[in-house]
Amino acid sequence: MANLLVTGAAGFIGANFVYYWLDTYPGDRVIGLDALTYAGNHESIRSAESNPAFRFVHGDIRDQALIEKLLREEKIDTIVHFAAESHVDRSISGPDAFIDTNIGGTHSMLKAARAVWLDGPEGRLPHRFHHVSTDEVYGTLGPNDPPFTESTPYAPNSPYSASKAASDHLVRAYHHTYGLEVTTSNCSNNYGPYQFPEKLIPLVLINILHGKALPIYGDGKQIRDWLYVDDHARGIDLIIKKGRLGETYNIGGHNEWTNIDIVNLICKLMDERFAADLQMKEKYPDAPAARGEKANSLITYVKDRPGHDQRYAIDAAKTTAELAYKPVESFETGIDKTISWYLDNEGWWQRILDGSYQEWIDQQYADRKAS
Ligand code: NAD
Ligand code: TYD
Repeated sequence: MANLLVTGAAGFIGANFVYYWLDTYPGDRVIGLDALTYAGNHESIRSAESNPAFRFVHGDIRDQALIEKLLREEKIDTIVHFAAESHVDRSISGPDAFIDTNIGGTHSMLKAARAVWLDGPEGRLPHRFHHVSTDEVYGTLGPNDPPFTESTPYAPNSPYSASKAASDHLVRAYHHTYGLEVTTSNCSNNYGPYQFPEKLIPLVLINILHGKALPIYGDGKQIRDWLYVDDHARGIDLIIKKGRLGETYNIGGHNEWTNIDIVNLICKLMDERFAADLQMKEKYPDAPAARGEKANSLITYVKDRPGHDQRYAIDAAKTTAELAYKPVESFETGIDKTISWYLDNEGWWQRILDGSYQEWIDQQYADRKAS
């Protein structure tokens, strides 16, 4: 039986991971920590709270004393560290929070782990610190470059990816210098339930329902490698159980799409949903389908993101060879599940849109269109 501390548990991937872990390992105890920033949503893990194996703690990863207290009080033996500022566009308009949380916050997690697991009164305790990182630390690829491997040199281009790269280096240094038992995963773009609607896929889904523009940055030919969020959780699970200490593992699904192709695909799938369920036209009267138009009529090219990485692609051969990792979800099944989840859980995203988030996204869109 393991006692996990999952940071960022009320965020997109953290919440999905908590549900995955509680379902897969019902004997384990899971403590979910989250500062509930704009991206954190307590509602996302409400269902987990009815499970006595789960406890939610509202707190900040930069609070080292709180982390140490939790590690001791809950006899934590495994940290899965998701908490971060995660949106590239926000890192461009305001990098400071990314430095504070992603670098300072990860360092305070490492200091707490060292104090309790290595230097506490009981001596060295059994432990694992798993750090969740991104493929964005490797920089950008040309169209014919081979995908990123674990030995691709780091070349981060945005304040977000630079802050994640710095946190990866700190995790590595705590292993080499102090002997902290760490593993790191670098994963491609995730999609699925509970993703905050500033990210491409949920933004496009929701804007179609409201008949709002679908902003395509630049020429829309940038490429991302998309993975269903539960397949990320499965990869982390294998790394925690079987990964070699001090190693990094890539997680991805060989699923490269240009942004414009993915937006066109979502438009087509949404047109099919409207055609199959006539009530949707009444529920969403501003959607193009309700006016007899196609969803892709909303596509609007806007000014490119500064420093926009052209292509990300992951080579997960090491993770497959060492840990028998293989994504379960195909893109067709994953995107279908995701669309169904957003249609079935309007309350979840509508409450987010009612808050300040919508103002921020509208402003971003107006700025890009104007320039
Ligand atoms: P998210 O923004 O949806 O969630 C991040 C969570 O961290 C939020 O709930 C937020 O409240 C919490 N948080 C932020 N600052 C905090 C602090 N100081 N203390 C405690 N909690 C804090 O992000 P996500 O998409 O779920 O990403 C989770 C992790 O996975 C991040 O580390 C990200 O870099 C990594 N990752 C994301 C993707 C992706 O496609 N989304 C891909 C690869 C790796
Ligand atoms: P995003 O979901 O922000 O993830 P990341 O930047 O971490 O890859 O964006 C995915 C891609 O979609 C990225 O190339 C930027 C692009 N994009 C748009 O073209 N329009 C949008 O409105 C958004 C949010 C993203």
